Amino acid sequence: MSKPFDVVVIGAGPGGYIAAIRAAQLGFNVACIDAWKNASGGPAPGGTCTNIGCIPSKALLQSSEYFEHAKLHFSEHGITASGVKIDAAQMIARKDAVVKQNNDGILYLFKKNKVSFFHGQGSFVQATEAGYEIKVSGGSEETLLGKQVIVATGSSPRALPGLPFDEELVLSNDGALRMGAVPKRLGLIGSGVIGLEMGSVWRRLGAEVTILEALPTFLGAADEQIAKEAKKAFDKQGLKIALGVKVDEVKKTGKGAKAALSIAYTDAQGAAQSLEVDKLIVSIGRVPHTAGLNPEAVGLQLDERGAIVVDADCKTNLPGVWAVGDVVRGPMLAHKAEEEGVAVAERIAGQHGHVNFGTIPWVIYTSPEIAWVGRTEQQLKADGVRYKAGTFPFLANGRARALGDTTGMVKMLADADTDEILGVHIIGPMASELIAEAVVAMEFKASSEDIARICHAHPSLSEATKEAALAVDKRTLNF
Ligand code: FAD
Ligand code: NAI
Repeated sequence: MSKPFDVVVIGAGPGGYIAAIRAAQLGFNVACIDAWKNASGGPAPGGTCTNIGCIPSKALLQSSEYFEHAKLHFSEHGITASGVKIDAAQMIARKDAVVKQNNDGILYLFKKNKVSFFHGQGSFVQATEAGYEIKVSGGSEETLLGKQVIVATGSSPRALPGLPFDEELVLSNDGALRMGAVPKRLGLIGSGVIGLEMGSVWRRLGAEVTILEALPTFLGAADEQIAKEAKKAFDKQGLKIALGVKVDEVKKTGKGAKAALSIAYTDAQGAAQSLEVDKLIVSIGRVPHTAGLNPEAVGLQLDERGAIVVDADCKTNLPGVWAVGDVVRGPMLAHKAEEEGVAVAERIAGQHGHVNFGTIPWVIYTSPEIAWVGRTEQQLKADGVRYKAGTFPFLANGRARALGDTTGMVKMLADADTDEILGVHIIGPMASELIAEAVVAMEFKASSEDIARICHAHPSLSEATKEAALAVDKRTLNF
């Protein structure tokens, strides 16, 4: 006999677990299935984000930043810290503890909201008149029946053709977050978000880091001015980034403790080059994950990339089956997955859930942090939009000077005719937090004048946002 539920959610990453909680809040009888296992084989809900993504990467970014501060910046504050060392194994153990707090937090939230959790792999069996039959295996052994199903099975790292991940020498984000010692020479392929964040962690801890990027432009998705500023900052830090590169061959060399990799590549000028590294992180994007889901059993439609095909409301081709997060189109971001999860639960309840793709913030948690929302200057030009731009450097911000972190700027782009804010781009301290004000402003269709007239606390980094808004009208007060 299958266990009946109003809603069955497959996957407990940010898309799935949030969808399950919201559906339960709306009065549905909800099951959530998740396959992730912790080191002892127990459940570890939270998906890529919690286990090998957002949370552990931010834990390591924090530890490595403290280390670099202690080594390079304490002395300017008059603090003596001699013999500063890094114990990579302890740093990884702390990261694991942070992950576990998040896993446990989700299990607690399921209990609190009366979501039934099933640990195991969920796969479609068949569609019946009463709903979809889904088998859980490899943990709990059950068959569930869902009147409505939300698929939130996430994504997996993309490997270089012919170079599978072994998580020893050739690492995905998983292995990159588990290295128990600092490699002397670390290579990365792809200077996207993972390349820059992971490259920063291990460079700060003492690795010689080289990133090989296929595209000739650096951070093409960001505003050009911000990307230029970021490249300057990373160059200064000693993060070597080679653009316009073609990786030709990766060969394993040496054995045991001497095992290493030799990368043959063609540089932007067409010259043959080689790079020897002790570890290689391949961060060339992610692919939607549906392995084990058995979508064929019910005729769930996938596109040529393997993503589940959905409409603007996250409806699939099957009545009552929805899909959210990394497994569908759109940016692969945890907060995008969460918003879709909430919206789908509300749509199932007959409400009007909504996700505004135009105001999804992007953050890269390097130092300086990079964050943006809305359109870039190059996009506005390409779209033929008349705009005004205002920038304000952190160099002229009192709080940034007190922090000793004055790299970067806030840049605001507003419509030349209506003054509506069209994009905000930040590089600098706490950009990840500062961007929230810009998201709120854009959601409320604020003008740059609105931000310019709002009182911001002094001294605070957020004054740079107000000053950038004043700069749109050429009336900055502090620059
Ligand atoms: P996932 O988090 O991938 O969760 C899917 C879950 O479904 C997993 O637990 C999986 O085990 C389970 N599952 C899959 N198939 C089945 C099945 N058949 N049965 C049962 N369970 C199944 N995003 C940000 O917004 N901010 C960040 O700072 C950030 N940092 C990142 C850092 C790294 C290193 C990486 C790799 C990603 C990062 N991301 C970040 C992206 C973020 O992790 C993803 O966008 C997010 O996890 C997507 O959520 P999801 O729920 O769609 O899928
Ligand atoms: P990415 O898409 O950000 O970057 C991949 C990079 O690899 C691109 O610059 C691409 O041009 C390059 N590339 C592709 N093929 C290549 C090749 N053969 N040789 C050299 N370079 C090549 O993907 P990434 O960094 O793997 O991250 C995956 C996703 O995870 C991100 O797109 C993002 O959605 C999410 N993420 C989000 C974070 C955040 O929000 N802070 C942090 C980390 C990941």
